Amino acid sequence: MAKHIVIGGGSGFIGSELTDKLRARGDKVTWISRTPGDQKITWDELRRDGLPECDVVVNLAGKHILDLSRPWTDAYRDEVIRSRIETTEALVQAINASTVSPDVFISTAGKCFYGTRELADGEAPPELDEYSEPMGIDFPAELVGLWEAAAEGVDTTRLRHIRLRIGVVLGKIERKSYLLRFWRIGRARGFLPIIRLPFCLGVGAVIGKGTQVFPWIHIDDMTGIILHVIDDPETEGRYNAVSPGIVTNRVFTKSFSKYLRRPILWAIPEWLVKAVIGDERSSILLKGQLVRPKRTIESGYKFEYSEIDKAMADLVKITF
Ligand SMILES: NC(=O)c1ccc[n+]([C@@H]2O[C@H](COP(=O)([O-])OP(=O)(O)OC[C@H]3O[C@@H](n4cnc5c(N)ncnc54)[C@H](OP(=O)(O)O)[C@@H]3O)[C@@H](O)[C@H]2O)c1
Repeated sequence: MAKHIVIGGGSGFIGSELTDKLRARGDKVTWISRTPGDQKITWDELRRDGLPECDVVVNLAGKHILDLSRPWTDAYRDEVIRSRIETTEALVQAINASTVSPDVFISTAGKCFYGTRELADGEAPPELDEYSEPMGIDFPAELVGLWEAAAEGVDTTRLRHIRLRIGVVLGKIERKSYLLRFWRIGRARGFLPIIRLPFCLGVGAVIGKGTQVFPWIHIDDMTGIILHVIDDPETEGRYNAVSPGIVTNRVFTKSFSKYLRRPILWAIPEWLVKAVIGDERSSILLKGQLVRPKRTIESGYKFEYSEIDKAMADLVKITF
């Protein structure tokens, strides 16, 4: 039977891909957004009028933490935090106050929950799954801790609460303009546009040492996991949305450059990454977490993309 799904931040990268899949199978989708529009309500309307009657609520709202067009200032940092916590709190309040409760609340957060710490030379990173505690606390881990805590107030006697921890989501690169053929690359959403420019200019690079693990997930698996937890009434609790085929940054970068047919010419030194994006959020690129989707696999979800080369072959389809 068709469902009504309300998605906070549905206009974003993950939300719009999810919306396409839900609508394609006949479900109704309403976005909660900062701006009004067709098949949308605003956050102010949610706070004032309450939650529309629906089956599922997903929260994907949040100011992008790696927006390189903006310097990492206190104001930006504050917006990153508030955009996640205030939207989550507003949804929890609206869900708890609803006369007819939705069946499922899907709150999202990042794999940065697991934090980072210095590894000794040659030390293997610890394996982390949904049962693991953070291995160290840095700013992104602190942010995720607050973000997850904001979702905890939902009344779980009335619904299933799914808590997703998301890795770096990789989206398709599309070539929208004929001119872009010279760069062998086109428009994309998610992480790939952030590292795209140096590759376009032919100076693609490994980030830092390149040995840091890079927890990635293909957008189709990202939306696939959300559909899986919506549809399977047995699912509940925490699930890692990261591919089982985790690789190091060097392997990831090699695969990206292979499918773009662009060289990797250097490694961006750590000090330069810190200078460009700021110390506090640099751990997202310079350090990583060996996150395993243990409960996700146990719940019966079958990953379509478990190998980075298979994902890149699907995402980077620019031929000449
Ligand atoms: N993509 C990834 O690799 C990744 C990895 C880990 C975690 N996540 C998390 O998953 C969620 C969805 O990711 P995404 O890539 O789809 O994000 P996205 O494309 O940046 O979109 C998120 C949406 O959040 C809303 N938003 C932006 N700034 C906001 C603010 N200041 N206050 C309230 N709402 C705001 C926007 O919707 P409106 O303009 O309609 O208001 C936007 O479309 C985010 O919370 C993100 O942190 C993403």
